[in-house]
Amino acid sequence: MIFSNELINWYRINKRDLPWRNTTDAYLIWLSEIILQQTRVEQGMPYFLRFSEQYPTVKNFAAASEDDILRMWQGLGYYSRGRNMLKTAKVIEQSFNGIFPTAYADLIKLTGIGEYTAAAISSFSVNEAKAVVDGNVYRLLARYFGIDTPINTGKGKKQFQEIADELINPANAAEHNQAMIEFGALQCKPKNPNCEQCPFITSCFAYQHKKVNELPVKLKK
Ligand code: ADE
Repeated sequence: MIFSNELINWYRINKRDLPWRNTTDAYLIWLSEIILQQTRVEQGMPYFLRFSEQYPTVKNFAAASEDDILRMWQGLGYYSRGRNMLKTAKVIEQSFNGIFPTAYADLIKLTGIGEYTAAAISSFSVNEAKAVVDGNVYRLLARYFGIDTPINTGKGKKQFQEIADELINPANAAEHNQAMIEFGALQCKPKNPNCEQCPFITSCFAYQHKKVNELPVKLKK
């Protein structure tokens, strides 16, 4: 919990003002997280703004044609994301009465929503204490704790998820998760991380053992 408090202090000072952070609407969070899955924040932002204006609710989205969705998706790549979204929007329209689910257990069953996205939506919308683990979080955890288990293995995924779940502040799951992502993106960067001005300089294993550039470990497959 001390880690989480320190992290959130850093976040409040350094965070970017991103449009999907000003909402607890599960539909809009879903939209942003799917767009950002294989896309950088700067590139995804205009798409998020266009989609949320054109389709402000999941009902609007579900009523769109696949052609319309894919046309708006142009330039983002990985078009299966757009197709899966339409499928999921229709399921929500039919089976959830058009109300976007917020519980992790419901979300994880939907097409196109995996562990990361279910944790993101449930924590950002209703503060469910499920930890998000994306590339940013793997990097931060591997360095801070000095974990050299390859992140792209079943063993690694399980180990990192467990650690992330232990660190989360259940009273403030949404802000904790946003802070983990933001810290990895802005501070604990893949190249040239800002170690000289880091709140964890004295407690970070990788920094103390000069292993920052060796972690995280990814297995060449
Ligand atoms: N990348 C994926 N999800 C994100 C979020 N919520 N904020 C910033 N970058 C992200």
